[in-house]
Amino acid sequence: MKVVLIAAVSLDGFITRHDKPGSGFTSEADKRYLRDILNRFDACIVGAESFRVSRNWMLSRLMPDKLRVAVTRTPEAFADVADPDSFEFTSQSPRAIVEDLRTRGHHLCALLGGGRIYSLFLQARCVDELWVTLEARLFGSGTPFCPGQFDFPLELLSHDSLDRNTLLLKYRPRQGSG
Ligand SMILES: NC(=O)c1ccc[n+]([C@@H]2O[C@H](COP(=O)([O-])OP(=O)(O)OC[C@H]3O[C@@H](n4cnc5c(N)ncnc54)[C@H](OP(=O)(O)O)[C@@H]3O)[C@@H](O)[C@H]2O)c1
Repeated sequence: MKVVLIAAVSLDGFITRHDKPGSGFTSEADKRYLRDILNRFDACIVGAESFRVSRNWMLSRLMPDKLRVAVTRTPEAFADVADPDSFEFTSQSPRAIVEDLRTRGHHLCALLGGGRIYSLFLQARCVDELWVTLEARLFGSGTPFCPGQFDFPLELLSHDSLDRNTLLLKYRPRQGSG
């Protein structure tokens, strides 16, 4: 199974504008692109904090053929919203989550963040590609894209413009790195 990290990031490396949760800062071009590509994925993974801030939006878009997995240290706290067909909450490690999805027949999984979950999966070497929308904005502060201290060499696979100010950069971890 392939895991693709999908993120929209300011030029100075933030995935939220200051302390305002959500990704409302992204361009219309990125919103369109995201709607289109998410149809291709048969599973997605989010962090519990991203779930908490977009709870109503996520719960209104559950689909039985697109499994959503939220990562939390306390899955039992989400028993009221968990649904065996469409929305699971887990405290498993990234490797165990990916292996579990693979054995259940999933092929393409979107890793939708936020920042701490991106870092968790990157550090566990559980990301096959990174699809990063680079928004032409500087925030100075916000939720960091992938907090922590590491150095992963990446290989640029492609670069496209979503509109005149917005770039879509696709990378994969460089072979043999880390
Ligand atoms: N611009 C973008 O592309 C983009 C994409 C996604 C999200 N966002 C935004 O980013 C913000 C959230 O990012 P974030 O970094 O604060 O949070 P996050 O990555 O969404 O979630 C962090 C949560 O993950 C759980 N967690 C962390 N480490 C864990 C571990 N080792 N095992 C199990 N669970 C673990 C914890 O949940 P518990 O506290 O429940 O244990 C923690 O609170 C939101 O505002 C969201 O809207 C932006």
